[in-house]
Amino acid sequence: MPKIPAESAVRRAFKRRPARLRAGASACALGALALAAGGCSVKGGDNPNLIRGKQAFVAKCGACHTLARANTKGIVGPNLDAAFERGLAEGEGRSSLRGVVEAQIEVPNPEGAMPKDLVTGALRRDVAAYVEESAAKPGKDTGLLASAVPAPGAGKPAVESGGKLAIDANPEGQLAYTSATASGKPGPVTITMANMSGVSHNIAIELGSGGATAKGAPQAASSFISKGTTSISVNLKPGTYTFFCQVPGHRAAGMYGALTVK
Ligand code: HEC
Repeated sequence: MPKIPAESAVRRAFKRRPARLRAGASACALGALALAAGGCSVKGGDNPNLIRGKQAFVAKCGACHTLARANTKGIVGPNLDAAFERGLAEGEGRSSLRGVVEAQIEVPNPEGAMPKDLVTGALRRDVAAYVEESAAKPGKDTGLLASAVPAPGAGKPAVESGGKLAIDANPEGQLAYTSATASGKPGPVTITMANMSGVSHNIAIELGSGGATAKGAPQAASSFISKGTTSISVNLKPGTYTFFCQVPGHRAAGMYGALTVK
């Protein structure tokens, strides 16, 4: 298990940031969000692209962090809404969040599970600006930001053919398969899962429509991979099955779907 420091990095960072940095950082006005295609323009050369920031957040951070507006539900690291809510409640301005996030990306806890430099350069700034804009903020993203990332599992249904069924992991790192529905005929089937995301996943199958909740031991379960393809072979009977990922937290976050056999 990764060691999580007793005091959150956000709190520590808030405390050590010099006052002049806390005050001066940029903040996009709410109104600017609607026009956020190119990010909101603030002062001198600082023009973060919130759309890119959100996309990269979902791809690089969301598997480990919950952030409501990004619709990510990872549980490896702290819930970022909760982490920042505390800071904001203690009187820090929202504009100080960006520096905190950038610093965390550059210098995560060396004993923690967060890899260093997941995003760099302008993209790091964009990700941090998106977190600054959206953490601990009720409501949903609007305008172009709302459609920046496709809904997880919205791909067209996977259909079995000749005893083969492909159900791939979301390649952008979302805790989801590309499709939340699949269908097939009874009999022996090999279910393959390609995973190009870099986030560890597997595919398991159980009888019934358990949805996000596990129902005891699965009928079959593949190995865990973060890049490549894995598969399971099962003998399907008519009925409804649930396919899901067994990495802790992934099924609860939405990485499951329904397979109808008839
Ligand atoms: C592999 C899992 C993982 C990924 C991917 C990841 N993090 Fe983290 N993150 C953690 C863990 C674990 C911690 C707590 C330990 C630490 O501070 O390093 C953490 C801490 C943080 C904190 C401090 C929160 C607090 O309460 O102090 C922030 C901010 C943060 N991460 C942002 C990000 C951003 C932005 C990204 C994407 C660029 C990201 N993380 C990607 C696991 C991850």
